[in-house]
This record gives sequence, structure tokens and C-alpha cells, in this order.
Amino acid sequence: MKHILSVDQFDKDRLRQIFSTADNLRNSGNFGETLKGKVITNLFYEASTRTSSSFYSAAVKLGASVIPINEVTYSSVSKGESLKDTIRTLGCYSDAIVLRHGTKGAAAEAASVSTVSIINAGDGAGEHPTQALLDLYTIHREKGRVKNLKIGMLGDLYWGRTVHSLTKLLRLFDVELYFIAGRGFKMPSELVRPGDIEVEGLTNTLPKLDVLYVTRMQYERHNISKEFIDYNYQINPEMLQPARSDLTIMHPLPRVDEITEEVDKDPRAAYFRQMENGLWVRMALLKLLITGF
Ligand code: NCD
Repeated sequence: MKHILSVDQFDKDRLRQIFSTADNLRNSGNFGETLKGKVITNLFYEASTRTSSSFYSAAVKLGASVIPINEVTYSSVSKGESLKDTIRTLGCYSDAIVLRHGTKGAAAEAASVSTVSIINAGDGAGEHPTQALLDLYTIHREKGRVKNLKIGMLGDLYWGRTVHSLTKLLRLFDVELYFIAGRGFKMPSELVRPGDIEVEGLTNTLPKLDVLYVTRMQYERHNISKEFIDYNYQINPEMLQPARSDLTIMHPLPRVDEITEEVDKDPRAAYFRQMENGLWVRMALLKLLITGF
């Protein structure tokens, strides 16, 4: 595997390898100099906190250096340089490029000309494969299994790329998927399979769920302003009352107002643990990609 572009590239054996590498790194605390002398470029055309800084931290902990291009305005992109030429350039100076871009398919376009590994860190409303890997790793850690689970995804399922990748990845497992979204924000039809349950409201579904994966409205993608959106949802302690006592609440973050801060104290809130898991999964991915799967 040279690039990480889509979750379609992973089977159960690969996932086991990635997660056991992540566990080993987490437990050993000794990262050696696995990537000494290597250089990773973070090339972000869109805003990021967790993805860019966890990849940065992962690279540095493994002994690599990082070229951080978190604001492409200060690169030659602002002079009109194409994505392909930018990738050709950065490939001369680095061993892997972590790319976030606003256009679906951008990571594949970059990989088509790249001499070094491309890691898709989000391509528009397309995919976010490394997020789905850390989400799956989190489900496994929180539940102790990825089977016989009822997993609900709530929010902007149409424009949210994390739920697209996670849905595809969960097809490898025996789980029941509930897509909870308002009109205009439903899961794209090509990702829905017979047996999936699509509903608009959470009330009747919540008590059944083992995992609730909440997402924010992706305003930057659809440009529909808040007052025109006829869909409201917010997770708060009161509405969680009918939920299972062992529910796992996840969110890729950033959260805006979909989950109130009071929920953070609830032991079922796993989103901060999920965010930390991102570091270990991304360390594992960099190590395996650069030194060989
Ligand atoms: C997500 C993204 O960029 O798609 N953020 C992240 O990487 N954790 C989710 C989002 O922005 O809503």
C-alpha cells in the first residue's frame, strides 16, 4: 500500500495490523527512531485542528520532521499553482504528504502524479479514511467488539465525509446502521444498503443504540444558512435519559452546538477519548506506510 485514499483499501487483516501497531505504540511509550531522517508534509487547503496536529505530533514522536503548510495562502498556491504541481514539488522534499482539500477526488488526483505516499486527510464531502480508522478503533476499544452493535449516525450525513468513510468501513462487520438525518441531509443513496434504517428523528431510535455518532452541520459545504435549515438536534443530559447505560457517544469534532458541555461529564461521552485515539492510529499509519505494511 503506497497511498491511503479511501477506506475501500482496507480489509479485516489490514485493520488488525493497524490497530495492533497502534496498541503497541500506545503501550510501549518507546517510539525509537522509526522515522528518523524522514520528512512528512502536512498540506492543508481547509481548516483543521485535530487531523493536522495529530499527524504532526505522530510524525515528530516517531523521529520525523514536518513541513507544515496549514495555510496554503502562504504557498505558491496563492500564485495559482495547481494541486498536481504542488504535489510534484513537495514530493522532492518529503517522504509522505498528508493532504486535506475541498474537492472530492483531490487525494486521488494528487496520488496520480505523486512519487511519495499521499494520505487523504479529507477530500471535500468525499472521504476521510484516517478518521474512519480511528473511529473504528474507538468503537473496538469502547465496546470490546465490532459485531452485534446498533450504530446510529446523526446530523449532516449528506455533506459529512467522516460518516461516508465510517459507513463504508463498517460494511466489513456485522452491525446494524441507523441513519438519523433531516431532509436534505440524508446519507447519499449510493452508501445506503438494504437493512439500513433511515429515520428523521432520534427519539424512538436512541434507546436501541449501542453507539451514537454525532456530526455537525457542514455549513462550509452547502452554504445554506442556519435560519433556512429545518432540522434541529442537540444532545443534552435530559434527552439522553432513555438511552442505554452503556451507550457510547462519539463525534469526530469539532463540536459546535450538537452536544452540550454538560454531556462531557457523562462517562458515555467517548469523543475526547476518540480524539486521543487519533494520535495512536495516525502514528501506526505513518509507521506502516513508510516502513512497509
Ligand atoms: C472532520 C472533517 O474535517 O471532516 N473533522 C475532523 O477531521 N475531525 C469533521 C468536521 O469537520 O465536521
